[in-house]
Amino acid sequence: MTDCTVLVLAAGNGSRISNSLPKQYILLNGKAVLRRTIEIFLIHPAITAVQVVISKEHKKFYSKAIEGLDLPAPIYGGKTRQQSALKGLVHLQEKQPKYVLIHDAARPFVDHKLIDRVLNRLATGKAAIPGIRLTDTLKRVHSEHRSVVFTMDRKDCWCIQTPQGFHYQEILAAHADFVNEEVSDDAAIAERAGLEVAVVEGNEQNFKITTDNDLEHANKLLSNELSETRIGSGFDVHSFCEGDHLYLCGVKINHDRALKGHSDADVAIHALTDALLGGLGLGDIGMHFPSEEDQWKNANSKIFLEKTKHLLFERGAKVGNIDITIICETPKINPHRKRMTSSLAEILDIDTNRINIKATTTEKLGFLGRGEGIAAQASATIYLT
Ligand code: CTP
Ligand code: MG
Repeated sequence: MTDCTVLVLAAGNGSRISNSLPKQYILLNGKAVLRRTIEIFLIHPAITAVQVVISKEHKKFYSKAIEGLDLPAPIYGGKTRQQSALKGLVHLQEKQPKYVLIHDAARPFVDHKLIDRVLNRLATGKAAIPGIRLTDTLKRVHSEHRSVVFTMDRKDCWCIQTPQGFHYQEILAAHADFVNEEVSDDAAIAERAGLEVAVVEGNEQNFKITTDNDLEHANKLLSNELSETRIGSGFDVHSFCEGDHLYLCGVKINHDRALKGHSDADVAIHALTDALLGGLGLGDIGMHFPSEEDQWKNANSKIFLEKTKHLLFERGAKVGNIDITIICETPKINPHRKRMTSSLAEILDIDTNRINIKATTTEKLGFLGRGEGIAAQASATIYLT
């Protein structure tokens, strides 16, 4: 089969999900839901073109999500899914593809075999849609009382998914004819137009991300995508100067001296930042936060860690564990250890049980033994996709 365009509908607001980003732009392991969906179609050999329909308000999110992909300019959708589909179909009039597949951007787990089943069936029919047989019992429930009205017969009931395949001209005409009838999928329009709609096997995994639970499920499905484990290590030293407090792991500690540095000299956070950047293969703290730049003067070092967290997120990386050793004669670290652990866990948004903080002295030997400063070393494992 040739000459098949996919319309990816991505103009919704994802209002049933609590995330502030529309669901199609939420990152799953560092990659936007919409990008995941598009990439699957882009590499399918029978797909000629992928046309995305977005909301005008999401232009910025869109550009970021599809960076580097070879796609025609997106077109703007309407208030409802149905309107977005129609706008997409009308736009394709220039190209007049023979076949069109209409797909929800919010189904990023669609697979090539499923697409093949739809396309193969479409080659001998008018319309083909994927579905899965209903296995749970189906009951009509009273909307107010939440009580069962009656049990329905689930025999021959299927849950319908996308992509839904049609002959382009036919579905365009049907959509235009039934513009005033509200339907929840494109096949319903084809049915109204009297086209026979064939159902092929869908796939449980091809679910639509609709609720927070779906998003959690999507993240779980992708957890085995985190396939590479990396180790990073970091080391830093700051000397003492006059003062009455210092910062370690973002925690203020009263002391008879302070630590000297361009920023707040939080030696432990600096070592940890280096360890995480090392694991990502992104150089060191000096490259990202140059000490010549005034913006980092007296900076709260938490900023360095927060930015590094963002870099981890962008690359779809997750922290495995962190192990920090603080080396000094004074101050005593033990009384502050719990607060330090919580502080790092909060900044990095990870569980405290992934963080270990140790302290040691150098038995009065060397510059640390003479109490001239504090050193810290950190190791971190990170999982990359
Ligand atoms: N969609 C669209 N234009 C709209 C509404 C929805 O293109 N006006 C798209 C969505 O982006 C989604 C697909 O249609 O990929 C399925 O719709 P749905 O799951 O309802 O998504 P949203 O409308 O974004 O979510 P919600 O209904 O929870 O607000
Ligand atoms: Mg909707």
